[in-house]
Amino acid sequence: MTTGPDPSSLPPQATQVNRREFVLSVLSVAAASGAVGAGQAQAQSMDAALEVHTGGVPLCVVVNGQQQSLTVDPRTSALDLLRERLGLSGAKKGCDHGQCGACTIHVDGRRVVSCLTPALQLEGRRVDTIEGLQRPDGSLHPMQQAFIDHDALQCGYCTPGQIMAAIACVREGNAGSPERIKEYMSGNLCRCGAYNGIVAAIGQAAGDMGKA
Ligand code: FES
Ligand code: FES
Repeated sequence: MTTGPDPSSLPPQATQVNRREFVLSVLSVAAASGAVGAGQAQAQSMDAALEVHTGGVPLCVVVNGQQQSLTVDPRTSALDLLRERLGLSGAKKGCDHGQCGACTIHVDGRRVVSCLTPALQLEGRRVDTIEGLQRPDGSLHPMQQAFIDHDALQCGYCTPGQIMAAIACVREGNAGSPERIKEYMSGNLCRCGAYNGIVAAIGQAAGDMGKA
C-alpha cells in the first residue's frame, strides 16, 4: 500500500507553508460568514467609546447659585470637580472612600458624600457647598456661628463636612436631642475628637434655624 511522506521527514519550510495556507483558508471562511465584519464593528464601537472618555462629556450644574457649564472626564468625582475644576476647596478629601464625611455637600438640598458621587450625576442639579453658606450681607449661617460659639473644632479639617451634614441633620428633623444628633451625625468623623462641641453647636443652631 502506498502512503504519503512522514510529516516529520518534511523540511521545516514545507510545514510552515501548510500552516499559512490553513490560517488563510480559515480567515476567508470567517470573512464570508461575517465574523470578521462583526469584529471590526466591535473595534470601531470601542474606539468611539474611548474617544468619549478622552474627550470629556458636557455637564451643566448650578453650584452655590451660579450656573456652571463645562466638559468633564466621566470618571471625575463631584469632589474633584469642585476642588480641581471649580476652585472650591471647602469640601475636604479625607478618605476618598465614603467613610469620613469630610467631603459632605448638598445636592438638591440633601447631604451626599461628594467623593463617591460621580460628577455627571450632578447634571441639572443644585449643589451647595460650605462656600455658599455665608449670607449676602456677610453674616454667617447660624450653624457656622454655633460652631464658633461652642468651639466645635480643633484643626478644622472635618469642619466643612460637619457643618454641611449638621445643617442637613437639622432640616431632616433629626436634631431634637443629643442622642439623635449623635446618631445622625455618626457618618462624620473628627480625628480631633471635638464631638461634644459639635453636638452642642447643632443643638443651638437647631433652635436658631427654627426646625429642631
Ligand atoms: Fe468622602 Fe471621606 S472623603 S467620605
Ligand atoms: Fe480636627 Fe475635626 S477638628 S478632625
